[in-house]
Amino acid sequence: MAYVEVRGLRKAYVTPRGRTPVLGGIDLSLDEGEFVAVVGYSGSGKTTLVSLLGGLIAPDGGDIRLDGVPVTGPGPERGIVFQHYSLLPWLSVRDNVALAVDAVNPGLSAAERRRITDEFIALVNLTPAAWKRPRELSGGMRQRVAVARGLAMRPKLLLMDEPFSALDALTRATLQDELLRIWGERRSTVILITNDVDEAILLADRIYPMTPGPDAVLGPAIEVGLPRPRQRRHMSLEPAYQKARRALVDFLRSSVSEREAATTEGGPRQMRPGSGTPGSPMEV
Ligand SMILES: Nc1ncnc2c1ncn2[C@@H]1O[C@H](COP(=O)(O)OP(=O)(O)O)[C@@H](O)[C@H]1O
Ligand SMILES: [Mg+2]
Repeated sequence: MAYVEVRGLRKAYVTPRGRTPVLGGIDLSLDEGEFVAVVGYSGSGKTTLVSLLGGLIAPDGGDIRLDGVPVTGPGPERGIVFQHYSLLPWLSVRDNVALAVDAVNPGLSAAERRRITDEFIALVNLTPAAWKRPRELSGGMRQRVAVARGLAMRPKLLLMDEPFSALDALTRATLQDELLRIWGERRSTVILITNDVDEAILLADRIYPMTPGPDAVLGPAIEVGLPRPRQRRHMSLEPAYQKARRALVDFLRSSVSEREAATTEGGPRQMRPGSGTPGSPMEV
């Protein structure tokens, strides 16, 4: 059995306005130390998948195992980095990260706690800002604290839900490069959720495209054949990059046109406006 094994995961939300079937049977597996990305359109069910993997909500069917153990609720062996900074506003960077250190290492001496906390702060290049409170930080710095906190839990599985999508393009590229470096040093097991095709190819070993839903499923995994360590520069010229990108974009576009054909009751297949045109945007 794989290190992370997800089988037939289904989830619908039931509200007074009706039932929204979101996930229609998600299958996913990761070996220890793998970096896998899930790419899908907004609204397809990516955050729902993260919430299920994190044990924050319960599935209607299917099964999640981490290192052989069924996931039935939240736990410190799964770290989550959310899209929006979820820091405690009254605590400094150091104290926000120290909370995560405490959660998994109860009873440390003060010196040891400080040493481990500072190690994770340095890893995300925040040493000069360690004493600041979240409101004194830029968006990129806040998201670095969130990454440091996720790593400080030393989780068996790190879940990242669009961690950089609220950031401007330059900051986002910097944080992607930092994550690439950190993962190269630590080889944690990571599931990155993103709507950015190029981010997924830069970072992941393997990419699962997600259909738009309702009843979203994951398409066949796309292996990213790019060697590591990876460099952003010139990567887009590599044949392996272009192959992965084409497979991913083709799957995502055809899943949208299939859904549109279904919703127009067998009418002509329609592409989304702008899809299929050269130079289309890199986000889905
Ligand atoms: N708590 C909820 N109650 C009802 N519907 C929800 C809830 N959370 C998400 N949804 C709906 O489920 C669908 C998938 O949402 P989400 O998982 O957030 O997608 P994504 O992260 O891919 O944008 C959307 O249609 C959304 O409106
Ligand atoms: Mg989301």
